[in-house]
Formats: sequence, C-alpha cells, structure tokens
Amino acid sequence: MSYLMSNYAPLEVTFVKGRGCYLTDDKGRQYLDALCGVGVVGLGHCHQDITKAIQIQAENLLHTSNWYHIQHQEDLAEKLCQLSNMDTAFFANSGAEANEAAIKIARLHGHSQHINNPTILTFNQSFHGRTMATLSATGNTKVQAGFAPLVSEFIYIDFNDINAIKAHENNNNVVAVMLEPIQGESGIIIPDSHYLNQVQEICNNNNWLLILDEVQTGIGRTGKLFAHFYNNITPDLLTLAKGLGNGVPIGACLAKGKASKLFTPGTHGSTFGGNPLVCKTALTVLDVIEKDNILDNVVMMGEYITSGLKNKLKDSDNKVLEIRSKGLMIAIELNQDCSTFLQKALDNQLLINITGQSIRLLPPLIIDKSDADILINKVSDLVNAL
Ligand SMILES: Cc1ncc(COP(=O)(O)O)c(C=O)c1O
Repeated sequence: MSYLMSNYAPLEVTFVKGRGCYLTDDKGRQYLDALCGVGVVGLGHCHQDITKAIQIQAENLLHTSNWYHIQHQEDLAEKLCQLSNMDTAFFANSGAEANEAAIKIARLHGHSQHINNPTILTFNQSFHGRTMATLSATGNTKVQAGFAPLVSEFIYIDFNDINAIKAHENNNNVVAVMLEPIQGESGIIIPDSHYLNQVQEICNNNNWLLILDEVQTGIGRTGKLFAHFYNNITPDLLTLAKGLGNGVPIGACLAKGKASKLFTPGTHGSTFGGNPLVCKTALTVLDVIEKDNILDNVVMMGEYITSGLKNKLKDSDNKVLEIRSKGLMIAIELNQDCSTFLQKALDNQLLINITGQSIRLLPPLIIDKSDADILINKVSDLVNAL
C-alpha cells in the first residue's frame, strides 16, 4: 500500500541512477531515455558540469529570500533577456507557475486600459499546466473535468486557424493570445510556418499581448534556443521551465515592453522562485548549450532520427499516418491506439510517451548517432510488430 495520492499511475519501474541518455533501475537494467523526464533533462542525466555547479552552489548557499538581492538571479535574468530579446524576468518553480505569472500580467494589461473582464484567447488541445488558472487556460476538457468552477475569461479557439483569432477582433475584452509554438502534450502539433507571424501581427494591431508558452519547446528542444526564433518574432510574454534547470525545478516568465513593467512590489511572488541554487544551475545549462554547440546537434540528430524512422517505417502497411518533428520533438502518428506501447517499450528498455494514437519522443539534446540508431531500431520494431 502506498501513502501517495492516486493522481499518477506510475509504471512498475524504479530508477536509481542516470548517466547521459540512460537510466538504470534498481535491478541494474539500463534504459534508453527518449522522454527525458518529459522534456526536462535535455543535457542528459547527471551532466558533469551541471552536477558540479549544483555541488559548489550547495556548499555555498541554497536559499535566502526574494526580500534580498540574489546575484545569480540577476545574472540569469540578464542572460535570458539578452538571449531572447526580452526586457525583464520573473522566476517561479514550474511551467504552470510561469504561466500563472503571464496570465496575471495579461490581466494587469487589461485593467490598465479599464477593461474589467480581461479575456485571453487560448487554444483547443493546448496544455498550460495544472493550477486552477492554467488548467482553465488549457483547451482540454479532460484536464478540467471535476474542477469546476474554472477560472473564467478564457476563450478556446482552433490552433493553426488564423481566422479563428480574427473572429475575436471586435471583442473589446480580449487582452492577450496565449499559445504553444508547437503543441507538445497533444502530440507535437506543428502549425504552418508563418502562423506565429500572423498571430503576432493581429496582436500588434489590437494591442493584445502575445504570450508564448515555450515550457516544452524552449531551451533548445526544437533546434533553436526558442521555437519562435524560426519566425523571427518577439512575444510580449515568454514562459519557460522544463529544460531550463535540467532537473532542478525552475520556471521563468520573461516580458517585453509594456508587459515588462506591470508587476510592481507586492503584486506577485514566490518563496522558492529564483533561489541561488536553481539560478546557478540554469546559468550553467545555458553555458553548456552554447559551449557544446548543442543546438547544432539537435538539428542534426532531429533530422537523422526522423529520416531514420521514415525509412524503417516506410513499409509499415499504412500503420504510420504521419511522422511530425521539429528538432528533437518527434511524433509518430499511427492509425490505431498505441497505449500498450508504453509497457512494451519499457520491456524493451526504452522510455517513450504515448498521446492518443501518437508516440511522442523527446530524447536528450545530447543524443549521438549510435544512441539515435538504437532509438530508431527500438521504435520501428515496436511499430512493425503491431
Ligand atoms: C507547454 C506546457 N506548458 C506548461 C506545462 C506545465 O509545466 P509544469 O508541469 O512544470 O507545471 C507543460 C508541461 O508539460 C507544458 O508542456
């Protein structure tokens, strides 16, 4: 019997050690981790630079409070803003909390214009988190079921349909559009290449804030540091988490221009957010990404794995409907339910994710050709055995 609440249904495996792309369980079996703690451990498990930074920081100082100046937090804010062309940063502990901050800023933006019911356009099949505001922003009734009353003033529209946004241009309550550049949790849904540019243009024309949730797509996952770099745009609000800490809990909400000055003392906060340990770790993550040319590897390995899978699965008797990918966000959509794959993959010492009829792969950004070959072979064997 477990004393844990029943909100997770973990697989029957306990990992005790991780190195690079591999995890080892308590029986000594090694698994190729093609999920990375759901897009978190991008630089691989126990990367030596990250481990060292954590060790040194732990010996010096773990936590003070945001009531005092925190130099690593200042440095991380500066680095992230310079890298993203944003102006200011707020640090939280998770993706949901980063999004909470963005939603609060959007409401402040509305109230600053005397809009009493500031409304945010969000998208069907999106995912923004599990807190009350972020599950309300999430356009998925499964995530919301049982938690009514929801936080109000979100309107859900279809993703990758620019007219669905334009249809709300006459709604004077709208203050922001919030979206993932690529919808991750719903199975790597990639919009048309100019979609984000069009969304930004509509936001600019209407004085709406553009909120990009890059919790999953950010920090190199798509082959650029941020997915919206493919569109050469700058959002008003940019949220990050997952890969930013490579396993230590950190979230960030970055803001630009008018959105960057809306929080004033006392309007928002977090006890743990941005403490010396997590900020030093995130600074080291960004250094390693730069120093080791991680983005080049993501582009190269993304193409290698995608073409390898396409090649191995080309005679799969129409079992594969589509293979979608951007960098190391990869989905294989099948013509049938593949929920049994999680256990089958585990039995084959491989960690993946399943979303409906799609297999989702988020392998470490450091993966090399030999591990990519193992991944391609294991996944195509699974599909071909269907
Ligand atoms: C796009 C996106 N936003 C927000 C979240 C929520 O992040 P967290 O679980 O850290 O609160 C996730 C998590 O999967 C996500 O993929």
